[in-house]
Amino acid sequence: MQATQATQLTHVTMVKKRLGNGDDCRKCVQAEGVLRGHGLWERIDRIVWAVEGEPHSEGMQLGARFGVAAAPFFVVRDDRGHEQVVESTIKLVRSLARSVERVVESPPPSAADSPLTAVELAELALKLAASEPLDIVRFALERWGSDCAIAWSGAEDVVLIDLAVRAGFTPSVFCLDTGRLHPETYRFIDKVRTHYGLSIDLISPDARALQAFVRKKGLFSFYEDGHQECCAVRKVEPLRRTLAGYHAWMTGQRKDQSPATRAQVPVLQLDAGFTGKSGALVKLNPLSHWSSAQVWKYIRDNDVPYNPLHERGFVSIGCEPCTRAVTPGQHEREGRWWWEAATQKECGLHCVGPKLV
Ligand code: ADX
Ligand code: SF4
Repeated sequence: MQATQATQLTHVTMVKKRLGNGDDCRKCVQAEGVLRGHGLWERIDRIVWAVEGEPHSEGMQLGARFGVAAAPFFVVRDDRGHEQVVESTIKLVRSLARSVERVVESPPPSAADSPLTAVELAELALKLAASEPLDIVRFALERWGSDCAIAWSGAEDVVLIDLAVRAGFTPSVFCLDTGRLHPETYRFIDKVRTHYGLSIDLISPDARALQAFVRKKGLFSFYEDGHQECCAVRKVEPLRRTLAGYHAWMTGQRKDQSPATRAQVPVLQLDAGFTGKSGALVKLNPLSHWSSAQVWKYIRDNDVPYNPLHERGFVSIGCEPCTRAVTPGQHEREGRWWWEAATQKECGLHCVGPKLV
């Protein structure tokens, strides 16, 4: 976890909304679920109700005092007696997790650098194979901290970011900016950046290699002789360069994304195609067992931002010239490099690693 000098939160008041018909509002119930899920519910010292249509209820008064229009929100007091309002449950989880972190012994600073032995890796792969995505993400970020990066491009990867942030981490995130992404995707990248308050490393292709390739082959050679050459310049070399700075990386790959190429994706593997900061590179695919439906349920239940192209029939989204919408009966991978055979629909980011268990 990132070191922090944050002050200790000593008192938290949660303001919940009660609807006119007596029900609790859905978002407040979800917020309680999130806090309970992180073992942080005990940190709520007081609950106050903002009752719909009753401006004199205590929660409504607190809302007016702090200029907040929508519950749930939290009024937190720190060890210096300062009070402030926190409107996002995720931000509260992060603050509480940080203040817990300050009183828990930190792992030794060398832990991230000491390579795992083959036996340890095999044991880990076995243990994590049946774990929930949240536990896998938490394990990776506790073990490698900022030396483990989330490779982000699509819906699955925002789920990884969301899980990490809810667990109290500020993950390292990078995105390979091929220069050919949809305008919607660029806007989405910035939306995620501001939504989670994260810095996202946008990785560009090597300018000289790209210039030489485009001079020789133009901008659309992939329709003639396949996508591998363009992907090698715009994605694979930048990824190789980036991963050399990390001990581990996490991807949003799922087994059911591509029966032809991803059916064997494990939760944890040694990356067979790339090397990391000190040689061997660990690759984690925390959503390996999840279906597309599970990803989208998580996104809906947790108000996770997503690329607006998904509302226009796009499912798996890559570069603009190589991605198209699919019809309801088609597999999501059919929208990628549609002019090529199903077994060729990998661009070199993902190599099948040695089996660890
Ligand atoms: S691809 O190899 O066919 O392009 P896909 O779009 O299915 O991959 O995404 C699988 C995972 O690869 C993503 O969840 C993400 O972790 C990683 N990935 C794909 N494209 C990028 C990118 N442009 N930048 C960073 N990571 C990416
Ligand atoms: Fe080039 Fe298409 Fe590969 Fe993007 S997906 S790098 S445009 S071939």
